[in-house]
Amino acid sequence: MRIAIIGAGNVGTALAVLFQAAGHQLTGIASLSAVSATSAAQRVSVAHGTNPLIFTREAEVIFLTTPDRVVAEVCEQIAAQNGFSAGAIVAHTSGAHSSTILESASINGAYPLSFHPLQTFANPDAGIQNLPGSFITVEGHEGALPIARQLVEDIGCKLLEISTVSKPLYHAAACIACNYFTTLIEEALQVMEAAGVCRDDGLPALYPLIEGTLKNIKRVGPTRALTGPIARGDASTIKIHLLALQEKLPELMPFYKFFGLATVDLAVAKGTLGEMERKKILEYLGGNKN
Ligand SMILES: NC(=O)c1ccc[n+]([C@@H]2O[C@H](COP(=O)([O-])OP(=O)(O)OC[C@H]3O[C@@H](n4cnc5c(N)ncnc54)[C@H](OP(=O)(O)O)[C@@H]3O)[C@@H](O)[C@H]2O)c1
Repeated sequence: MRIAIIGAGNVGTALAVLFQAAGHQLTGIASLSAVSATSAAQRVSVAHGTNPLIFTREAEVIFLTTPDRVVAEVCEQIAAQNGFSAGAIVAHTSGAHSSTILESASINGAYPLSFHPLQTFANPDAGIQNLPGSFITVEGHEGALPIARQLVEDIGCKLLEISTVSKPLYHAAACIACNYFTTLIEEALQVMEAAGVCRDDGLPALYPLIEGTLKNIKRVGPTRALTGPIARGDASTIKIHLLALQEKLPELMPFYKFFGLATVDLAVAKGTLGEMERKKILEYLGGNKN
């Protein structure tokens, strides 16, 4: 396919490299700044610039890999100048938005598509490395779906199809699994620091535990993977955690209690938390004891 990339950031650059490596032809890379367009284009030796029209008009598939907040606007601007050819596919890579934000492309006879890589792109190289083998979630106009499925396969990814109305909830799930998980690890490091273990030692020390947990979740699912004092019903351990936090990091108490309460539900589902211990733990965590 002839592919144009508009938005030369982390995702746009990684997709350009992966599509080209899969044998697709890039018509060019455009971005808001010439610097970003040049830097991305150097990786794939293609034309670049700040005017998307010269690349979009030649393309069969156009990826609008700008920040979410300007995707609809960029699409409207290009469509208003007849920048998409009839039958072309216009895609964005936002997780939360559906293909409906690309409706303006229809006035040129193009097909809207959302094409969300279910992976984190801290920078283009991390994306190039991590994306193959990951899922890409697609949703959009029927005329776009067969090629979308093919593109997913071409870059070594797996396909997840979703309904248009489900995109916000689907993306909330991805945010919890990726972004909130990252925050969770940061909070654990702060508690380690309060225990006198510096950050440089804390992360390597916690990392094998994090990896072991992830492996267990992959093997048996989160409910059966749950271990620890709440799963065992060790209420006194929860009490001493809370006393220690109260003394050193009182601002983290609500965070600890919130996740503790969610963990009680998981432990009940696992079937290892007795009723008496559950009530005791709920008392410490400030939950409803019924
Ligand atoms: N990062 C992730 O982990 C991730 C994962 C999955 C999906 N996504 C989605 O992928 C999309 C891009 O995210 P990203 O992380 O790659 O963002 P990013 O690194 O901030 O890149 C966005 C690029 O868009 C360019 N841009 C901004 N306004 C523009 C405009 N009006 N016209 C043309 N280009 C414009 C910026 O240009 P300049 O640099 O030229 O200023 C920037 O290079 C978003 O929809 C995001 O939700 C991101």
